Amino acid sequence: MSGRLDDRTVLITGAASGIGAACARRLAAEGARLLLADLDGPGADKVARELGQWAVQADVTRATDIDRMVNAAYERWGRLDVLFNNAGVVQAKPLLDVTEDDWDRIMSVNLRAAFFVLQAAARRMAKQDLLPASELRGKLIHTASIASYRGGLPLLAPYSASKAGLVSLSRTAAQVLAPHRITSNCICPGVVDTPMWKQIDRDWTALEGWAPGEAWKRRAAGIPLGRPERAEDLTGLVVFLASADSDYMTGQAVNVDGGLVMGN
Ligand SMILES: NC(=O)c1ccc[n+]([C@@H]2O[C@H](COP(=O)([O-])OP(=O)(O)OC[C@H]3O[C@@H](n4cnc5c(N)ncnc54)[C@H](O)[C@@H]3O)[C@@H](O)[C@H]2O)c1
Repeated sequence: MSGRLDDRTVLITGAASGIGAACARRLAAEGARLLLADLDGPGADKVARELGQWAVQADVTRATDIDRMVNAAYERWGRLDVLFNNAGVVQAKPLLDVTEDDWDRIMSVNLRAAFFVLQAAARRMAKQDLLPASELRGKLIHTASIASYRGGLPLLAPYSASKAGLVSLSRTAAQVLAPHRITSNCICPGVVDTPMWKQIDRDWTALEGWAPGEAWKRRAAGIPLGRPERAEDLTGLVVFLASADSDYMTGQAVNVDGGLVMGN
């Protein structure tokens, strides 16, 4: 093998679909060994079978599932080199209509679960040997969003708050875990053509009385690089963050959005 990630062990959450699945394909092509976790067990199995990798059904909002998922990685490999903490949910709804249930559902996956997955992985990584030929024990990568930085997304108040919270958690983790030789960074996608954006389009067009697809078209029209983002556009950054090339980088949040947000 001669990939950039030969034999590196990686746990991906939200791996059945969209960004998680696209990154699984690219990481596997770079030689990584993958554990693909998703609420959608058959979906994760399908991607795993395609790639000759391995899947586990897990709801990251459940502590027992987090334990089972992280334990599975350690039972199989004896270590976990990289966590790609990527599972997420969205809902587009006017701020004045958001209910406590709406708030809790978004926060429980995007922020609460992301934290406890990070914590479970970091607890184990802190006790493992250094990666071969490396100063590090492990690497954490979290999927935040350009919504982390921005007001101006009036239908995504809880979602944006959850992703801002995730960037904050990642930075605190970067500080706390640096002495343990674990890095923590976020990727911030823009407007990506995945089932998640199909749901935003469904919610948003229903609110506006627009034809299906219209919200997507309007949002994508503002992208400076002139086309919507594909999940594959994020895979290069994730390979970089999983590889030794990013070993001296921690506490960062990197936009890959076709220029939609320039600066933080
Ligand atoms: N699509 C975009 O435009 C966009 C932009 C910025 C950030 N993101 C973020 O990217 C990440 C991936 O989203 P995507 O666009 O690929 O969407 P997606 O809907 O295609 O994939 C999300 C995956 O997460 C899984 N998931 C949801 N809840 C889960 C749970 N409780 N336990 C385990 N798995 C769960 C889903 O089953 C699904 O497979 C999310 O964190 C999302 O917030 C997406």
